Amino acid sequence: MVSFACWSLPITLLALLCCSGSGKKAFEVYIWSEKHVVEATESWKVNCSTSCENPEKGGLETSMSKIMLEQHPQGKWKQFLVSNISNDMTILCHFTCEKEQYSTDLNITVYQPPSQVTLKLKPPRVVVGEAFTIECTVSAVKPLESLTLTLLRGRESLQNQTFEGTEHEAIAIFNSTALTKNGLNFSCQAELDLRPHGGHIIRSFSESQILEVFEPMQDNQMVIIIVVVSILLFLFVTSILLCFILGQHWHRRRMGTYGVLAAWRRLPRAFRQRPV
Ligand SMILES: *[C@@H]1O[C@H](CO)[C@@H](O)[C@H](O)[C@H]1NC(C)=O
Ligand SMILES: *[C@@H]1O[C@H](CO)[C@@H](O)[C@H](O)[C@H]1NC(C)=O
Ligand SMILES: *[C@@H]1O[C@H](CO)[C@@H](O)[C@H](O)[C@H]1NC(C)=O
Ligand SMILES: *[C@@H]1O[C@H](CO)[C@@H](O)[C@H](O)[C@H]1NC(C)=O
Ligand SMILES: *[C@@H]1O[C@H](CO)[C@@H](O)[C@H](O)[C@H]1NC(C)=O
Ligand SMILES: *[C@@H]1O[C@H](CO)[C@@H](O)[C@H](O)[C@H]1NC(C)=O
Repeated sequence: MVSFACWSLPITLLALLCCSGSGKKAFEVYIWSEKHVVEATESWKVNCSTSCENPEKGGLETSMSKIMLEQHPQGKWKQFLVSNISNDMTILCHFTCEKEQYSTDLNITVYQPPSQVTLKLKPPRVVVGEAFTIECTVSAVKPLESLTLTLLRGRESLQNQTFEGTEHEAIAIFNSTALTKNGLNFSCQAELDLRPHGGHIIRSFSESQILEVFEPMQDNQMVIIIVVVSILLFLFVTSILLCFILGQHWHRRRMGTYGVLAAWRRLPRAFRQRPV
């Protein structure tokens, strides 16, 4: 807070000086930055220069860490290495020449690339005609309003989604219905378009996921097969049981016959003689 006050005061003074100055400028102040959009971890070069031949004073105003790398012998330019940016900010170059001070500022945008894109299919397997949801999440992206999430089926885009700059996590949801039996290959693309801020496009993809789709017929066929197999098994077991029972019965009847025969044989021969 103290450091903020320390550098915001001179900026206010500079602003007052620059804007209250009447008539045309006696000299120009230029600011050049190697980058206009930077990652929080990056360091980059900034050059402050002036058209004044022999400036009395000059420098770079910023709350970030800065190191002066080089300067012109007469102080016509100074090059700095700046780092440790945490939020979007304005940097300002100022020079004093013949008791007049002018400044020029530049806005620096911080970005955080979409590093992890996650795709979820809910549920991962469905029956033809059933609804499913594709969910794509990407965490911690800056600036969020530059992000577009695209849900893809193969190479075809199903849905584009953009965001307001307030949410912490970006999520895109797409509801659909499985119309064909073919497994569907889904993926998600996160695109951070930094071109309006003087940057480039950064793209990340999720891993692709296959939605497994089943024919409802298949389930009916399974039921039919199970029923048929059960009936056959039942008939088989029943027939075996029947054979066994009948066999036993037949055996007993034959044993019965033998019993009579044996008793007959056991009778004394005389009795067995038929009366003449
Ligand atoms: C800084 O900018 C000035 C003016 O454009 C240029 O002459 C000078 O070479 C630059 N310094 C470096 C170190 O690039
Ligand atoms: C970087 O900035 C943070 C706050 O923005 C500050 O707390 C920290 O001390 C800075 N680090 C360096 C090395 O300047
Ligand atoms: C810098 O950003 C401020 C708002 O934060 C805006 O008013 C100003 O016009 C911007 N300056 C430039 C040079 O784009
Ligand atoms: C799914 O699609 C991606 C790219 O679109 C491809 O790399 C991957 O091999 C596909 N997977 C299958 C199982 O077809
Ligand atoms: C999504 O955006 C891309 C590129 O801007 C475009 O080609 C595509 O047709 C869009 N898809 C949908 C579903 O609007
Ligand atoms: C998708 O379906 C879920 C419930 O399954 C519902 O909460 C959500 O609003 C739907 N989203 C869209 C975009 O239709």
